[in-house]
Amino acid sequence: MNIFRFRMINILNVAIGILLIALLFLLFRPHYWKHLSRPNWYENYFFEKWYTNCQNDENKVVKICSSEFAILKDVQVRPILNTDDALPTFRLNCKSLPSVVFFHGENHLNDWYKNIECMDKNREKTGVFTEKHLTIMVRRYEYANIYHAMTDFYNAFMVMRILKGTPNTTHILLWDKHPKSELDSIWSVLFAKVISTAEINSENIYSQLAWSILGYTSPLSAFLLPTVPYLDEFRDFFLSRFSLSPIVKLNCKHLNILFVWRHDYIAHPGNPSGLIKRKILNEKEILESARNFMTGHEVKGVQLDRLSYKAQLQLIASTDILIGIHGAGLTNAIFLPNHSGLIEMFPYHYLVEVASAYDHFKSIAKWRKLKYLRWKNPDKDNEFQNFNTKIDPRTMNELITQMTAKIC
Ligand SMILES: *[C@@H]1O[C@H](CO)[C@@H](O)[C@H](O)[C@H]1NC(C)=O
Ligand SMILES: *[C@@H]1O[C@H](CO)[C@@H](O)[C@H](O)[C@H]1NC(C)=O
Repeated sequence: MNIFRFRMINILNVAIGILLIALLFLLFRPHYWKHLSRPNWYENYFFEKWYTNCQNDENKVVKICSSEFAILKDVQVRPILNTDDALPTFRLNCKSLPSVVFFHGENHLNDWYKNIECMDKNREKTGVFTEKHLTIMVRRYEYANIYHAMTDFYNAFMVMRILKGTPNTTHILLWDKHPKSELDSIWSVLFAKVISTAEINSENIYSQLAWSILGYTSPLSAFLLPTVPYLDEFRDFFLSRFSLSPIVKLNCKHLNILFVWRHDYIAHPGNPSGLIKRKILNEKEILESARNFMTGHEVKGVQLDRLSYKAQLQLIASTDILIGIHGAGLTNAIFLPNHSGLIEMFPYHYLVEVASAYDHFKSIAKWRKLKYLRWKNPDKDNEFQNFNTKIDPRTMNELITQMTAKIC
């Protein structure tokens, strides 16, 4: 063959290859891009550097760390005005502020930062209450989804931990106007006190006010990271706040196997049809088959969000094998015992092989060093209407066998 032609073909192949890879990457790895475009992504991986990499103003009343979170000293917060998009105003004894852009385009911290007013030291303080407890200010986005709520809990925990706060003395200031949701009560279990914007009616001064990390930029959503900071500690903190013990012994003669089901919701404004994706068509069949197959073991199936959050945690913290189709409920894998395993399932048309967009729970398993199995329905004919997937009970039992071999 002509050498020149050979080279051309080679170069063309390589170029097409690179283009294809780039295209795939662009299409399916938005999560990676977000984190790679962080200013110090690689350094952030070394967590100590992440939280010691801070900038101060001249008077040292504002400290901003890694463009992710901030600590304000003796700051006066103006009560919220009566419009939905009202921003808080912060008055501080500062002269000028360092120029900072908080990470991620839509990060509310950039708006908050613009709303800092530098005041004279002798500002009027009469009639103003000073809060001495460490207060962490949080703005929630997708507050009703346990995965997103967990990123907010975890971020607030990290900030508390970095500032050497304790749960019994740390307050949370929720600065958003979300309607009440089931998950709200978790904040008040985790921390000493929770204040919402509606309750702020005077210009309080906070001795130490921290702005928590944006939920979307939580390390929990950086699936690439080989480890995330303090996750084991976060688990212990969470369980102990709910008065649950983090220690459960593995008993291979009596395993606790838990299926979590996803069912359609009662319709609500956010989801008028009430229809949800990724459901198992034959729950009863696979549950009964697994029970017969695993005699002597405990095999249960539950819809987690029907239970109180404490009851959910109690179940999860004593589960050896957790099984579910991809969905926010699997976030609770954070609270599984150290020895346990997670089996995650996907319907036929999910591009899990090339996409990292579905790696939330696989990553949690990696960080917690849990055993993990992923199964995707290989047969199109087992997909049914209204997002139901039929699972062959023998396949399920085979997965349980494989997982049992991994943990026992
Ligand atoms: C935190 O407070 C609870 C009750 O309010 C108490 O039982 C617990 O011992 C306290 N924890 C610490 C570490 O002080
Ligand atoms: C679970 O594993 C972590 C990390 O290996 C360890 O720090 C923790 O103490 C373990 N927890 C229990 C309850 O054994």
